[in-house]
Amino acid sequence: MKDHLVIFDTTLRDGEQSPGASMTKEEKIRIAKQLEKLRVDIIEAGFPAASQGDFESVQAVASVVKDSIVCGLARAVENDIVRAGEAIKTANAGRIHTFIATSPIHMEKKLRMSPEQVVERAVWAIKRARDFTDDVEFSPEDAGRSELDFLCRVIEAAIDAGATTINIPDTVGYNVPNQFGNLFKALIERIPNSDKAIFSAHCHNDLGLAVANSLAAVRNGARQVECTLNGLGERAGNTALEEVVMAIKTRQDIFAVDTRINTQEILATSRLVANITGFAVQPNKAIVGANAFAHESGIHQDGVLKHRETYEIMRAEDVGWSTNKMVMGKHSGRNAFKTRLEELGIEFETEQELNDAFMRFKELADRKHEIYDEDLQSLVTDNNNQRVENDCYRLISLKASMETGEPSQAEVTLWIEGKEFSASSDGGGLVDATFKAIESLVKSGTTLELYSVSNVTNGTDALGETTVRLEKGGRIVNGMGSDTDIVLASAKAYVNALNKIADELVKNHPQASV
Ligand code: KIV
Ligand code: ZN
Repeated sequence: MKDHLVIFDTTLRDGEQSPGASMTKEEKIRIAKQLEKLRVDIIEAGFPAASQGDFESVQAVASVVKDSIVCGLARAVENDIVRAGEAIKTANAGRIHTFIATSPIHMEKKLRMSPEQVVERAVWAIKRARDFTDDVEFSPEDAGRSELDFLCRVIEAAIDAGATTINIPDTVGYNVPNQFGNLFKALIERIPNSDKAIFSAHCHNDLGLAVANSLAAVRNGARQVECTLNGLGERAGNTALEEVVMAIKTRQDIFAVDTRINTQEILATSRLVANITGFAVQPNKAIVGANAFAHESGIHQDGVLKHRETYEIMRAEDVGWSTNKMVMGKHSGRNAFKTRLEELGIEFETEQELNDAFMRFKELADRKHEIYDEDLQSLVTDNNNQRVENDCYRLISLKASMETGEPSQAEVTLWIEGKEFSASSDGGGLVDATFKAIESLVKSGTTLELYSVSNVTNGTDALGETTVRLEKGGRIVNGMGSDTDIVLASAKAYVNALNKIADELVKNHPQASV
């Protein structure tokens, strides 16, 4: 019997700390439900003390999720722990994750606390968290740069105080695999009560080593890995869930552990997270990138056709890519549409949602001959179709034209808080003219920080997915839009980002306020 490796997903907390990845309560609920389907053991839903919005999001996730443990993050201070405790109260199973820094640089320069004070505070925080739940996780922040003797001391005290999981964060992504693996080995061997807690790895990807470090930790006794979909997260991101899970599954000869992840839900979850956060997945991203299972070279194609395993170490179907990619067209009925979506793990809460999605499918099928699974996923997870109720702005129509040697022209009609307004503009290209026309109506005063386009499938009639990142007064948001026409996709992404900027509940960087 293999040991169980606990998969702790922090897409909704550390993932949300990526610039512009802030999520609304509704968006967090949608992702949390999908994470539950993916069968993650624990969902870290947010940092309840960071803002009222985050508190409500954790509370809402705790109320809807039944099969996964729901966790709230808290610094080792009274208010954070009480807020986290209140936020997870309705969960079937709830966890508080409390942390305090233990590296010399953090203790001295950030906390201005002595090592003795840090141990004392950690012990106090864990005991306080135990007033709310028996499931308490403790993280010595910046453990990757902490002194081993001190780490042993603080962790032993933490376990004595009632911490049931000890998470070792490489907060700044400084460690390398051998070193990080050895750290786990040393901690587990040296700490007398280490058998009373599960040891966990939490890695950041600053040197591109987050997954390798996490796997090294597993090889050396870690039985929980903290990760995010698509490796989303603070700075260069966190350990990518899909990569760790598939490495463990594919290399069972190396790892003495197993997860309970339903790997066929990986792609759907990855796409949902990308669509909601506006962080598109690079084509060559392992497991979930568009090219992850595409063989370009003739030699490889020939090999795969003769015997799949010549060049493939995993089955694309096992992570949710479909073998039968061309699924539907304009003659497909509502039932076939619904069935295919169900096969892709997408269900609708109401008949109305299904009908709306089917209408969008029909519109797409009029413009695009062959509809692939990726198109369907993009169609139903497109933010523009989900956030309508709370939105201030909606794109009603767009007319754009260009002629060689002339400035491009765009004419836009927007719905703005109940009324329709139109404006036109010229610009350096169709997208530029469109954005200028929209901005002349909204007057957002935002700065465009990033604009990117990628195609969901192949061909000139493929759906284009566009990301727009806007900044205003230090707040950064990402908007996403998809359409077979990239100018329209761009306009949708821009309006989506403007709605997020206008949404009071989409807060600043979650840790900025604490
Ligand atoms: O990276 C980190 O140290 C964290 C802690 C809060 C666990 O995210
Ligand atoms: Zn982190």
